[in-house]
Amino acid sequence: MKLENIIPWGRSMKEYIGMFNLSKEEIKFQKILGCGDGPSSFNTEVDMEGGSVVSVDPLYAYSKQQIMQRIDDVVDEVMAEVKANMEKFVWKNIPDPESLLDLRIEAMMEFLMDYEEGKEEGRYIDASLPDLPFEDDRFDLALSSHLLFLYSDHLDERFHIEAVEEMLRVAAEVRIFPLLTLQNIRSPHLDPTMAYLREKGYDVTIEKCAYVFQKGGDEMLRIIKR
Ligand SMILES: C[S@@+](CC[C@H](N)C(=O)[O-])C[C@H]1O[C@@H](n2cnc3c(N)ncnc32)[C@H](O)[C@@H]1O
Repeated sequence: MKLENIIPWGRSMKEYIGMFNLSKEEIKFQKILGCGDGPSSFNTEVDMEGGSVVSVDPLYAYSKQQIMQRIDDVVDEVMAEVKANMEKFVWKNIPDPESLLDLRIEAMMEFLMDYEEGKEEGRYIDASLPDLPFEDDRFDLALSSHLLFLYSDHLDERFHIEAVEEMLRVAAEVRIFPLLTLQNIRSPHLDPTMAYLREKGYDVTIEKCAYVFQKGGDEMLRIIKR
């Protein structure tokens, strides 16, 4: 994927904990895979707490300097988009756009500080769904934050099914957040993906989560291998 097609925008570990209802035990003891973690500080912060996260993203094909430059290039555009769509978000835990920007910059700076070391340690891997470079059952938990379902206009139903099946090949459980598209409506790919996975024998549930920023976006999908 070309860097000019990627909008780097990263969330913090606290936000991941809220989005995925992650417990302290899961953070500390589970082998976690983050699909499309981008410049989020989730991997960095979990690593500092002694936990284990491997993140895959096509962004990791690029150098620290290139990613930093790309963040610099897009930040005004992303913030202008947020300000033009204020009514789409819940301004509670994050009270205003300035606080949002501070939060995102802090998370992305933490990621950048850790990026080169993390790459050497194999924590940041250049790979893209629906193909993961791991053996079967390597992870306890695979997460997707703000990629699947959100970009339903760009990624079709077949992509979603292939991506989730691939995540289930390498992990015992998959959690996906949010279930809404960029237009704040439930993804049209959600029901067909859930029906397909149930048919295949997986346990599939929608659960409320502690985190909400996109209006109506307070649910995650949990899929468990029996
Ligand atoms: C909106 S960002 C979300 C970043 C992070 N998960 C978070 O919530 O803060 C979406 C990320 O998905 C990555 N991405 C796009 N297509 C992908 C694919 N096929 N497989 C894995 N990651 C992908 C992008 O490079 C980008 O970093």
